[in-house]
Amino acid sequence: MEKETTKKAKAPRPAAPSIQKMRAAVEKAMAGGGPVRVEAQKSRGKFTARERIHYLLDEGSFQELDLLVSTRATDFGLKDKDIPGDGVITGFGQVNGREVCVYAQDFTVLGGSLGRAHARKICKIMDLAHENRVPVIGLLDSGGARIQEGVDSLDGYAEIFYRNVRSSGVIPQISVILGPCAGGAVYSPALTDFVFMVEGISQMFVTGPDVVKSATGEEVTFDGLGGSEAHSSKSGVCHFVAKSEPDCFRQVRELLSYLPQNRWEKPPRVANPDPVRRQVPLLEKMCDLDPRRPYRMHHIIWQIADEHKFYEVQAAYAKNIVTGFCRMGGEVVGVVANNPAHLAGALDINASDKAARFIRMLNAFNIPVLTLVDVPGYWPGVQQEHGGIIRHGAKILYAYTEATIPKVTVILRKAYGGAYIAMSSKHMRGDFNFALPCAEIAVMGPAGAIEILYSRELAACKTDDDKAKLRTTLACEYAAKFASPYQTASTGSIDEVIEPSLMRYKVVRALRFLKDKRVPGTQENRGNIPL
Ligand code: HXC
Repeated sequence: MEKETTKKAKAPRPAAPSIQKMRAAVEKAMAGGGPVRVEAQKSRGKFTARERIHYLLDEGSFQELDLLVSTRATDFGLKDKDIPGDGVITGFGQVNGREVCVYAQDFTVLGGSLGRAHARKICKIMDLAHENRVPVIGLLDSGGARIQEGVDSLDGYAEIFYRNVRSSGVIPQISVILGPCAGGAVYSPALTDFVFMVEGISQMFVTGPDVVKSATGEEVTFDGLGGSEAHSSKSGVCHFVAKSEPDCFRQVRELLSYLPQNRWEKPPRVANPDPVRRQVPLLEKMCDLDPRRPYRMHHIIWQIADEHKFYEVQAAYAKNIVTGFCRMGGEVVGVVANNPAHLAGALDINASDKAARFIRMLNAFNIPVLTLVDVPGYWPGVQQEHGGIIRHGAKILYAYTEATIPKVTVILRKAYGGAYIAMSSKHMRGDFNFALPCAEIAVMGPAGAIEILYSRELAACKTDDDKAKLRTTLACEYAAKFASPYQTASTGSIDEVIEPSLMRYKVVRALRFLKDKRVPGTQENRGNIPL
């Protein structure tokens, strides 16, 4: 008979004391500001800093650093406070399989305020991103400089700003505002390439409503002063608005898909089934349109882009110019386009700033620019002149001329005066300049031109009727000569007047030809200064 053997289940071996100590420390640090503050954060409809990182990054890819760092400050009661991780979580992970560095401020720990150790953690992660040439993403939820740490906090911000500027145009820098960000907490985002906000959650201000009231007497709510609506449509600080935090992180991931890891790389090519030779019949219809009739430029962009996808940047700000990303033939392209649906597509101060900064960002990150032109000129007015339209308008001239990326321009309809020159014209070193047959390229529109050229003849008319008739005749003569692309094509300033329905194919071919464009002797360091 076989002997019955009963194996006793082995009790798990207790972890070594050193491991237990480590686990306890980690657990304590991971708890953030504790259950009460975490609950308060959630009751405001906000995620915790750890949840945010989880949503942003590829599943399981986050590697945390400096979890056990804490402040050495002792003044104003800090000695007796627990400050896990010093109120910020830092590390690296992946988005769509590509490495990124990330930091997330934890509002449950002293309001995410920035002290010395907190700043050093952020700086360490920014240095890692810079040296390893990967994007850095900041998730900000902070009351600004930690008041108890005095000038150490201010110096901490200075160190961050220094790194923002050093990395500008070197690696993509993205700021996601996820709470009330005050004081110093708003200037680092302003130095980065893109700012995201979430409706109802994000606020940015240098001084809050109370200070505003005592200084100026103005009464304003937190949202009215610095909410997503204010910064996306009025101040232009914010580039993207999301409806919720998950929507926001989805958008950040989408934005990253259009960007290279650093200035030495190109954005990733993504093949798609949209045929490069797909015709665009809508553009033929456009040539039948009354030249004074407005239309949304988005309809044109959607038609020519791969799979009709366009990811707009600063959609609610300076709507007279449209900026954003799409793919054409699988390659990423930045689009800058006048939008006749707003201010007739004219360039004004805000449109100039918006376009110039976008073009400079494209140039920094090797993304070709497609410029779609339908512009009657610069927007006139005392407010514009005194507001500095000369200075601001000059930024577009500078940005396009300085840019060495591939530049393809299509004139769809109007291209008048200085605005014609500004919108990546041939002599501003556009690489390929096309025009539709309905393009009108001239110093100014017929109505304005004949008043100047024929003022004496018009004044000599005996009746208003005569004047009107003469105006019509002269306007027709002027339009026959200038309201077309042919005079410009005859000088070579337009490379080709194209069949409208072939526009997508023409643009893709041009971009493919320009793929390895190099301009010798151009500046290496191309920072993306806030304009
Ligand atoms: C230290 C801070 C803090 C700060 C908030 N807290 N801001 N601690 N320094 N700057 C702490 C609070 O004491 C509180 O601690 C916890 O964070 C949550 O703050 P609450 O006020 O309870 O939250 P809420 O009502 O939501 O208001 C959030 C807030 C408000 C709007 C951000 O806290 C606020 O106005 N803070 C000050 C903002 C500010 O003026 N910052 C500028 C700093 S100067 P407990 O222990 O109660 O949980 C600056 C200059 C830099 O940044 C300039 C560089 C160019």
